Amino acid sequence: MRVTLSAAVTADGFLDDNTPQRLLISTPGDWDAVLRLRAGHDAILAGAETLRRDNPALLLRDEAARARRRACGLPPDLSKVTLTASGRLAPSLRFFTEGEADRYVFATSELPELQSVATVISCGSSVTARRIVTELEKRGVERLLVEGGAQVLEMFLREGMADTVRLAVNPSLRLGEQGGARFAFQPPEDAPCLREEVDGMRVVTCTLRPDTTDEDLCLLRQAVAESRKCTPSPTSYCVGAVVVTRAGERFAGYTHETSPTHHAEQEAVAKALAAGACLRGASIYSSMEPCSVRASEPESCTELILRHGFSHVVFALYEPDRFVCCRGALTLRERGVDVRAYPGLAGEVRAVNAHLWP
Ligand SMILES: NC(=O)c1ccc[n+]([C@@H]2O[C@H](COP(=O)([O-])OP(=O)(O)OC[C@H]3O[C@@H](n4cnc5c(N)ncnc54)[C@H](OP(=O)(O)O)[C@@H]3O)[C@@H](O)[C@H]2O)c1
Repeated sequence: MRVTLSAAVTADGFLDDNTPQRLLISTPGDWDAVLRLRAGHDAILAGAETLRRDNPALLLRDEAARARRRACGLPPDLSKVTLTASGRLAPSLRFFTEGEADRYVFATSELPELQSVATVISCGSSVTARRIVTELEKRGVERLLVEGGAQVLEMFLREGMADTVRLAVNPSLRLGEQGGARFAFQPPEDAPCLREEVDGMRVVTCTLRPDTTDEDLCLLRQAVAESRKCTPSPTSYCVGAVVVTRAGERFAGYTHETSPTHHAEQEAVAKALAAGACLRGASIYSSMEPCSVRASEPESCTELILRHGFSHVVFALYEPDRFVCCRGALTLRERGVDVRAYPGLAGEVRAVNAHLWP
């Protein structure tokens, strides 16, 4: 998934003032640009405090943009996402009542009072950006726009789960002591940033993680092709994997290639090690999410990937809860690995594994 953070701030860094009324910080031209940005995403996220204070509908109002999305086979509105620990969210909020898009509430408990108006995803003791990204990806979201407020923006930055940040500063608006929530974003020195003026706003768009989609998809297709060499079995998935080292060497493997208990990732890693390749900082492309639970071997593929210090893991299909409950992607993200899922290729992986689907 690609994650974009977007916010408008005053010249002194405030997202809002301290009055109950919603403060308009963007100029009309900048707001149009934000709506265009929204139209290029699958889901939009705002924190519970923003819903309580501003009661936004988070819809795409522009009929032309909605029509373009329909023409591309997308729903006209973005899925809506929020998060709460307190559960203080009234079902009458416009987030729940307006539009027909899917609505997701990430919470620390079940919240039965919201279950008729949203899908509540209960995360136990804490909600994290890594968990949100993982759960939304499983539901087909590929591009997430996070529109604030401050707590939520900071959570995505702190966890390293933001790819791009668009910050629009209104240079003629200062709040001083009337300021409310504040968002101070300092781009890392090495982050490429585009600076432009949009209808009187100073807009900076910084890339925190480069877009690797084209290369990822190319290598993921090789992994899927590799998976087709596997002999179908009723007790395992046919998976293919490709390891690419920082030096550019490639090693491919598929399930059970050399042993009836080997997974594809193990096969590819074993070939790399046999060739003397260094795996620290390497990338692995697998047609399916790396396993986190193994019945047949002591080490899961997730542990294998962590042990060798891979930094980039790419896959197409989240492992279904058929044999075990897999937490590979989330575990890798929690350990700081850059994980990318491409559900667009998941259909091909399902087709390779048609023997396991009724
Ligand atoms: N200018 C802009 O571009 C812009 C955009 C959006 C918002 N805003 C402004 O930002 C202000 C709100 O910002 P904010 O920082 O106070 O609040 P926020 O980020 O909108 O929401 C914070 C709330 O989200 C929930 N939350 C955050 N982290 C969580 C976690 N790890 N687990 C579970 N729940 C979590 C909590 O809800 P519970 O309290 O329910 O537990 C928390 O109180 C508003 O004034 C709004 O107008 C401005």
